Amino acid sequence: MLLLGGTSAKTIAINLANKLQQPLAHTSYKRFPDDEFYVRLKDNVAGQDVVVVQTAYPDQKIVELLLIQDAVHDAGAKSITVILPYFGYSRQDKKFEEGEAISARAIARHISMNADCVITVDPHKEHILKFFTVPAYSCSAVSTISLYLKEKNIDFVLAPDKGARDRAKEAATLINCEYDYLEKTRIDGFTVKITPKKLDARGKHVAIIDDIISTGSTMAQSIVELKKQGAKSVSVACTHGLFVGGAKEKLLAADCDEIISTDTIETEFSKVSAAECIAESLLKTAHHIKN
Ligand code: R5P
Repeated sequence: MLLLGGTSAKTIAINLANKLQQPLAHTSYKRFPDDEFYVRLKDNVAGQDVVVVQTAYPDQKIVELLLIQDAVHDAGAKSITVILPYFGYSRQDKKFEEGEAISARAIARHISMNADCVITVDPHKEHILKFFTVPAYSCSAVSTISLYLKEKNIDFVLAPDKGARDRAKEAATLINCEYDYLEKTRIDGFTVKITPKKLDARGKHVAIIDDIISTGSTMAQSIVELKKQGAKSVSVACTHGLFVGGAKEKLLAADCDEIISTDTIETEFSKVSAAECIAESLLKTAHHIKN
């Protein structure tokens, strides 16, 4: 197996190579004056099982991924497994209104063109895997995040909405503590409403866990609610930390005690690695690689 990390997954590709004890391919990447991307493989990948690791976010990184896949395919790789630590566009997974693009499907179809197998981490909804036209799998970083939270003596886990309840339950089981969920209504891309609800959070070290932190509105409002109810500390944890639109400032203003995310998107808050779950998934799905 030869791993190849794109520009949006440098750390996670190194972590993965170390975990699997497999080499990382040498590549040359640059941008032309008009900002178009250029890739050249510096190693011979002919006949090899190549694992391309690239987070498909933001837009430019999707183009990079498609070019890398094209180069690997053209160079005669035996198989191409695409690891999408974060699968951008996956939240538009259906038509909410007539005339809309199903973004997750559109991107998945293009990635499938030069891939034999796809693995992604904590997708917003599992059914998006069906949009790929090759075998596609998900893995979860929740156990790695939970281990970190356990070391921080978290004793109450909260999901910001009912949809994230199973994630909170899994984390609480691993930490061995209580969990609950809040009622969230999304008003628009930037605004959410958290309906107050009585929680058993008084005097506790709480962690709110979600798949994505984007603008931070969901977490910020949840923190305010928890602090009102007497939580001693409130940490927020997610797999994919987008942190857009002043999310960090919003969270700090809400009196957040700690911000934790994985390295599916590399930020200052990438305190745990999703490489462990990806490595396990790669080994489990290796049978999809051509003999
Ligand atoms: C959506 O349902 C996701 O699970 C997250 O809750 C959402 O993306 C968070 O967005 P924001 O940080 O902008 O509130």
